[in-house]
Amino acid sequence: MRILLIAGGWSSERDVSLSGARGIEKALLTLGHTATRFDPATSMDGLLEAACAHDFAFINLHGSPGEDGLVQAMLDAAGCPYQGSGPAGSFLALNKAVAKQIFVRHGLPTPPWVFLPSHPAPGWQPDLAYPLFVKSNVGGSSLGLSRVDDPSQLPAALDAVFAMGDEAIVEPAVTGVEVTCGVLGDEALPPVLILPESGAGFFDYKAKYTPGAAREICPAPIAPEATEQVMHMAMVAHRALGLAGYSRADFILGPDGELHLLEVNTLPGMTETSLLPQEAAAIGLNFEALIDRLITLGLE
Ligand code: DAL
Ligand code: MG
Repeated sequence: MRILLIAGGWSSERDVSLSGARGIEKALLTLGHTATRFDPATSMDGLLEAACAHDFAFINLHGSPGEDGLVQAMLDAAGCPYQGSGPAGSFLALNKAVAKQIFVRHGLPTPPWVFLPSHPAPGWQPDLAYPLFVKSNVGGSSLGLSRVDDPSQLPAALDAVFAMGDEAIVEPAVTGVEVTCGVLGDEALPPVLILPESGAGFFDYKAKYTPGAAREICPAPIAPEATEQVMHMAMVAHRALGLAGYSRADFILGPDGELHLLEVNTLPGMTETSLLPQEAAAIGLNFEALIDRLITLGLE
């Protein structure tokens, strides 16, 4: 097939997108497809025309304009199939404050939160117990994210997140380890346990993308009941958001086995060592086989 590989974009995760696209391009060629690169940052005006000239689009954008559903909506307008979720599911999942409302509605435990549409006035304090996390509401890869241990640190964290230009959420920093679980087709994959080795003590941008900065163990060596629950919740969240093809749900597993769902990623990181590819490998799907499966699911 003639495949349009859409990567780059203008979000803060541009570099992550381009780095994933290199491996995807190689896999597409190995699978016997042709791959034409398309970067919305330089040629968004030509997207519809480019999509019409291809049989399939493989989207590897993170943040806007791909993880928010805009590119998917344009591909729908062009009649060009693509992997993963459609516009509505993408839009709902990327917006943490919106997705959390849907989690609550479906009985999925998620930390309480306060949504901030803009930088609050000086002296503002959330009605939440410290320590807190301040996060971009629609950004990924932990960019703009800060842990705030006491009220004196809040102004700097708010300045940092709003410097990214996004709206923000504030939520309590729940205690535990990070566990992430992919969904592929209609099955949940074996979860990964993430242990940041140093630095911030949580899975920040550096830990995510510096080789060796975090230990990622798949299948996660956690209690069988916790594995079962994580896989079940990842599937419930995927369905509740109306997602398709694949997704990856990020959790904190607390010391007493309690789970907190943080977010669901509709275009999870796809470098060959990223989390979802590791989970696919654990069920015998190498990177090419995963890409092939995502294309098959996208054509269904
Ligand atoms: N936002 C990054 C790419 C992820 O969720 O994997
Ligand atoms: Mg994300």
